Amino acid sequence: MASAHESWRPRFHLSPRTGWLNDPNGLCQFRGYYHAFHQYDPAWPKAGKKGWGHFRSRDLLNWEDMGAALMPSIPEDADGVYSGSALIQGGAASDGGDLMRLYYTGNVKYEGDHIHTGRDANEIMVTSEDGENFSEKQVLLRPEDYPSDLTRHVRDPKVWEQDGRYYMVLGARRSDDVGGVLLYGSDDAERWELVRRIESERPFGYMWECPDVLRVDGHEFLSVSPQGLPSEPTRWQNIYQSGYFPLDGRLVDTEVVDESKFVELDFGPDFYAPQSFVDDSGRVILIGWMGMPDVDYSSAPDGLEWCHCLTLPRELSVGPDGLLRQWPVRELGLERISAQPISASAGAILPRHYADIVLEGIEGELHMSLDNDLTLDFADGMLVLGFSGKGGCGRDLRRCPLDSLSELRVIVDGSTVEAYANHGERVISTRWFPTADTLLVSLHTNCQKANAWEIGGMF
Ligand code: FRU
Repeated sequence: MASAHESWRPRFHLSPRTGWLNDPNGLCQFRGYYHAFHQYDPAWPKAGKKGWGHFRSRDLLNWEDMGAALMPSIPEDADGVYSGSALIQGGAASDGGDLMRLYYTGNVKYEGDHIHTGRDANEIMVTSEDGENFSEKQVLLRPEDYPSDLTRHVRDPKVWEQDGRYYMVLGARRSDDVGGVLLYGSDDAERWELVRRIESERPFGYMWECPDVLRVDGHEFLSVSPQGLPSEPTRWQNIYQSGYFPLDGRLVDTEVVDESKFVELDFGPDFYAPQSFVDDSGRVILIGWMGMPDVDYSSAPDGLEWCHCLTLPRELSVGPDGLLRQWPVRELGLERISAQPISASAGAILPRHYADIVLEGIEGELHMSLDNDLTLDFADGMLVLGFSGKGGCGRDLRRCPLDSLSELRVIVDGSTVEAYANHGERVISTRWFPTADTLLVSLHTNCQKANAWEIGGMF
């Protein structure tokens, strides 16, 4: 039997060999490679300082671990190279003039509460011509450049080009504990001026982390990770949320967003700080951190030497209701090896915890379980994730309102589970640490087709 440590290692979700991972950073496609950087503390479980770890891939499936790309090295990022994004400039992938610019927040801590005093946030840029070697760090914005009624929490630059101009959004916390974003504009992607602040009509949490503009099928959405929304039975069930405001037009023309329209991107316990990028074929791809800050459940049980992973890359589209749909990139389908029908009496047993489970033509209620532990139930307009065994390591129920359920795809990848309902209308992501050697899929429902694909091949 493979040790539990190894069978918990996801194949398609990026995880550090050792150490700590949080937010995806600097996602892009550049000169034929997809790049996924991420928040990385190699010293974990000891306390260290965060930088950017780096993976690259030609196909979004097989990733090369490039190690640490950016670590604290100047006074302006002395206590952390925090989250940020990539901007690719130039022509086609083969064009030698292409340039990768990476933007991040340099975090500096002094004496103080680190909210109102005792912290600096500097927006910093590095460039790269090959995606492997990075230039000197250049400080672009300093605390004195932000509006004076903000706390010291200003961070997570997301930069993009639109209609011949460059834009940046930053997440911010006002001194009166109201979250919002700052929109900056630039002609050269280096000198930035505040265009305006974008806030919600009524306060919506005290801080918005990791803002992003999602531009999909001609629609725009402002994505943020708000902190400070009190939990309710069917929404804001995590300590912090991630989701988006649908916009009437372009983000760069938007002055205020309607907080009553905020849509959560994922209803599971393990999803935060997502970031999108547009690949060379024009797909808008979103990757989230498959984790959550400040929780008491475990993502590294049994002495694992690595903590957390990223979600699958998900392609975004807009549904008939004008809201986003998320679907694992089609490359993942190439990894299917063989399918087993899931029978009502015996279920299906797969040799390992690497599976792509597809249910089609579901009618009425559904009860599904993995190893008689992780459960997914649909009844009365609610899809519910639960754990009846120990694999959830302290995670509890998550409820996801859904009018009807016709289709469900559940991807199990080591210690990760992502469930996509109605072709990505709703998504539930969770870590799960099974201890059985094989994967038992049990199913009670009325459905036309139920198959469990073994995925993953050799690795
Ligand atoms: C979100 C976040 C970001 C910050 C980073 C630090 O999880 O708090 O706002 O830049 O993590 O690791």
